[in-house]
Amino acid sequence: MTDITLEVNGTEKSLAVEPRRLLADVLRHEFGLSGVHIGCAHGACGCCTVHIDGVPKLSCLTFAVQCEGKAIATVESVGGPNAEHALQQAFKSEHGLQCGYCTPGFVMALIPFVEAMTSQRRMPEDDEIREAMSGNICRCTGYHGIVAAVRKAIGDQIAGGSNRS
Ligand code: FES
Ligand code: FES
Repeated sequence: MTDITLEVNGTEKSLAVEPRRLLADVLRHEFGLSGVHIGCAHGACGCCTVHIDGVPKLSCLTFAVQCEGKAIATVESVGGPNAEHALQQAFKSEHGLQCGYCTPGFVMALIPFVEAMTSQRRMPEDDEIREAMSGNICRCTGYHGIVAAVRKAIGDQIAGGSNRS
């Protein structure tokens, strides 16, 4: 076992883990963060995307011990029932989800893109949006609703003069 300290959603916690233990498993089972979904477990679907030091990463391809001293953010750190991020609101209004299993991964993968476009006050082409979400698979929606949600979130944030809802 290896002792590690992780900062997860702003809170530090020390624990002992086997070196082979995946970050996705540790977040779900040791931190109770069930929004970290596991679809394929081999880097193909994007369901398990979290932010590590602000950068989207696949937690199914990351060992927990690699995250010593790093800041991890999961979908549980985004928004909340009364303060949803513009992208979360847009997923609902633009029908960007059905079963929702893939949604945390899409949200975590796309928030940096949405915020970058918002700060540039630029509406991307659909091809750019599709490229930004190309690491994530949805088995339900066919992607049109997700692309529309990204466009709406960027448009709403630009109109609102903010890069967060
Ligand atoms: S569960 Fe990590 S990419 Fe599919
Ligand atoms: S909404 Fe079901 S997999 Fe995406």
